[in-house]
Amino acid sequence: MKILVTGGAGYIGSHTCIELLKENYDVVVLDNFSNSCEESLNRVQKITGKNLFFYKLDLLEGPSLHQVFEDHKIDAVIHFAGLKAVGESTTIPLKYYQNNLTGTLNLLSVMEKFNVKNLVFSSSATVYGDPATLPIKEEFPLSVTNPYGRTKLMIEEILKDLYQSDKEWNIALLRYFNPVGAHESGEIGEDPQGLPNNLMPYISQVAVGLLPRLSVFGGDYDTPDGTGVRDYIHVTDLALGHVQTLPKLVSNPGVVIYNLGTGNGFSVLEMIKGVEKASGKQISYEITDRRPGDIAACFADASKAKKELGWEATKSLEDMCNDTWNWQKKNPMGYRNHPKKD
Ligand code: NAD
Ligand code: UD1
Repeated sequence: MKILVTGGAGYIGSHTCIELLKENYDVVVLDNFSNSCEESLNRVQKITGKNLFFYKLDLLEGPSLHQVFEDHKIDAVIHFAGLKAVGESTTIPLKYYQNNLTGTLNLLSVMEKFNVKNLVFSSSATVYGDPATLPIKEEFPLSVTNPYGRTKLMIEEILKDLYQSDKEWNIALLRYFNPVGAHESGEIGEDPQGLPNNLMPYISQVAVGLLPRLSVFGGDYDTPDGTGVRDYIHVTDLALGHVQTLPKLVSNPGVVIYNLGTGNGFSVLEMIKGVEKASGKQISYEITDRRPGDIAACFADASKAKKELGWEATKSLEDMCNDTWNWQKKNPMGYRNHPKKD
């Protein structure tokens, strides 16, 4: 089977390419490098010893997209490409709507034209807003509070409408919890541009000495130690979730929705301790005000994915912290020192 991976040079996409190649799928990657670089794909090929096809292409350029489908007989698309920074989305919402919505619409039009109707879409636990109870199940009510989250929810709705109009489509909406960690080789990992927004890259940059101190956003939540609790999932487990969704897609399920999380919640202080243990470094931090828009706690009920896909996360908090640190210490500047970086 040949899989088109949009955004395949990015953090989750590159890890998914590895697992797809390991399972002998043919992989075609499309990415505009707006938040990544070609070096991640070089390393994917080095790690697996296999080649993938690659197009430097923007989903906003509809016509060039045709060429990919002319060149390859695609069986299914895994659609990662999108902008993902919540804070940034509140300052440049039009860019987020343009990129995420128009990019997806262009992709869907070309897929329809070439009769490729199997799609896995990267959604997010952000679509659950502030849940009334935990753990979060797929049928919980949906609400979003920022333009990034709204693009995810809108695309979910668009995809459901598409299926209603044409039952030949098979669409998996995968709602990720908090992806962290890196490939066990330490060759690929998360490479945020500028100051990290998310917790784990921030902690690991403090550990490696790039940043002086972590701000812990709030110490007075109604959680066991007062800091925010999240369902952190190892990016390799997440990547495997995509691979295990593909057989489900080709069984003609229509629209299916799965939480991809571990079902366990860890606090900010537990994550700090985890990285301290992995790195042998002390992480300097201070407790500051809550970050606007944050919720106290969020973790998944991931039993549906286990039952229907046979998938469950297997990597521990220790694995997540060890692999984050391994990547960070081997690549303190991410992919930046590499000459091919865009
Ligand atoms: P990422 O930024 O590392 O990867 C996204 C990739 O898409 C990048 O390589 C970027 O260059 C590419 N891209 C963006 N717009 C494009 C366009 N118009 N045309 C072509 N390529 C384009 O992000 P990630 O963390 O790997 O996330 C992948 C997907 O998963 C995103 O859709 C994101 O919203 C979603 N998601 C991520 C998280 C997370 O915490 N990382 C959580 C939930 C959902
Ligand atoms: C964030 C996004 C969410 C997105 C998810 C995955 C916000 C408000 N939410 O979720 O929409 O789906 O990333 O990309 O941005 N923290 C600190 N200090 C920091 C950074 C984070 O204390 O410097 C805390 C947060 O308050 C939170 C936890 O660490 O309790 C995790 O934060 P983060 O990694 O940003 O993920 P989320 O906020 O869960």
